[in-house]
Amino acid sequence: MLDSNYFHYSGKKLNCENVSLEELGSRFGTPLYVTSTKSLVDSYHAFERAFEQLPHFTCYSVKANFTLSVIRTFAELGCGCDVNSGGELYRALRAGVVPEKIIFAGVGKKSEEIAYSLESGVLMLKAESISELQMIHRVAGELGKIAPVALRINPNVTAETHPYITTGDSKEKFGIDEAELPAVLTLLGQLPNLRLVGLDMHIGSQIFDPEYYVAATVKLLALFNLSKTMGFAIEFLDIGGGFPVTYDPAKPATPIERFAEKLAPMLLAAGVKVIFEPGRYLVANASVLLTRVLYKKRNHVGKEFFVVDAGMTELIRPALYQSHHEVQAVTRHGETVVADVVGPICESSDFFARQREIDAVDEGELLAVMSCGAYASVMSSNYNGRLRPAEVMVHGAEATLVRRRETLEQLVQNELF
Ligand code: LLP
Repeated sequence: MLDSNYFHYSGKKLNCENVSLEELGSRFGTPLYVTSTKSLVDSYHAFERAFEQLPHFTCYSVKANFTLSVIRTFAELGCGCDVNSGGELYRALRAGVVPEKIIFAGVGKKSEEIAYSLESGVLMLKAESISELQMIHRVAGELGKIAPVALRINPNVTAETHPYITTGDSKEKFGIDEAELPAVLTLLGQLPNLRLVGLDMHIGSQIFDPEYYVAATVKLLALFNLSKTMGFAIEFLDIGGGFPVTYDPAKPATPIERFAEKLAPMLLAAGVKVIFEPGRYLVANASVLLTRVLYKKRNHVGKEFFVVDAGMTELIRPALYQSHHEVQAVTRHGETVVADVVGPICESSDFFARQREIDAVDEGELLAVMSCGAYASVMSSNYNGRLRPAEVMVHGAEATLVRRRETLEQLVQNELF
């Protein structure tokens, strides 16, 4: 069971901060994402504390959770943003993030997205290929601007994590090869509309072993020195995100301090401004997905199913990455049962838990799928004609609706006969 300061039982009832989840389920309906504001704030402070001895700038990676109120919560704490598309840039700006605190990443930016980011005045665009640098150069020229760019390096470090979320390996599409850097720097000398401001990496997500960061940072620092000798005064080194969280209490995440202990001394010595782009670390354990048990059934081989009103359309992580999420009763019964918790979607991969010991809740009662703050709402879809859920943020004893549930009308609003 995942019990925290933010989601905890008071007697038999599961609360978010000082609000009963049962009440929220009745008031706002289900499925419902519920976020603890205090958890967001505390995670940000914990990250900042861990790296406080190192001059750095933290850019929340909004792809993990781009709900405007979530982005705004971090922006109000002074945090910047890492965005991966024109859409995320729009969201960050709408949430009130100042452009000078936004970095624009992405392996395939379109010319109009490049133009949008340059016109907005973002801190930097991270380039991932020679062709992209030429495109940014062209667009900047058309706009009469000098584009601040960072080069995303692929350090060829294969971090141990799910294969779909490892990004620092040469097999993957991301970044520029280390070996290519001298040629890229030479080319930059011929592209006057570009100003090189940084080197960048992101080696993957949910990485437990700090040594992968150390190995990749050694390479990034060598390239930083090479760039210096070639006459480039680089201001920023961006180490990316990927810091882990605990989904399964049996597999606790490496504390962020272990990463800081290894990385801060190396980076401090380089005398450069460091950027971090945590996503999951800041948000994953701040939200739950609240869902109601529609039906219970047992089949002829004695398998027990809890059919709930949320599914892979609201949390695709178990289907896509075989990831573990705790499932907890909103009202504890005491006795337990081994069951599959499954959704209403017509796919066998539509499950939250398989053969899991959970509280023997009744039909009509609520379950909380834990750790749904990162890569849940943002990856939701309308598959099977599903309506995206409402979202609520809790602050102490107060709950605020921050996103309305989609309507049937919205499902078809962009279609024409
Ligand atoms: N920076 C870049 C360039 C990224 O591509 C990502 C994540 C991050 C930062 C933030 O990584 P984090 O700190 O959240 O690990 N949907 C998958 C995760 C995909 C991560 C994609 N890139 C999941 O649900 O596990």
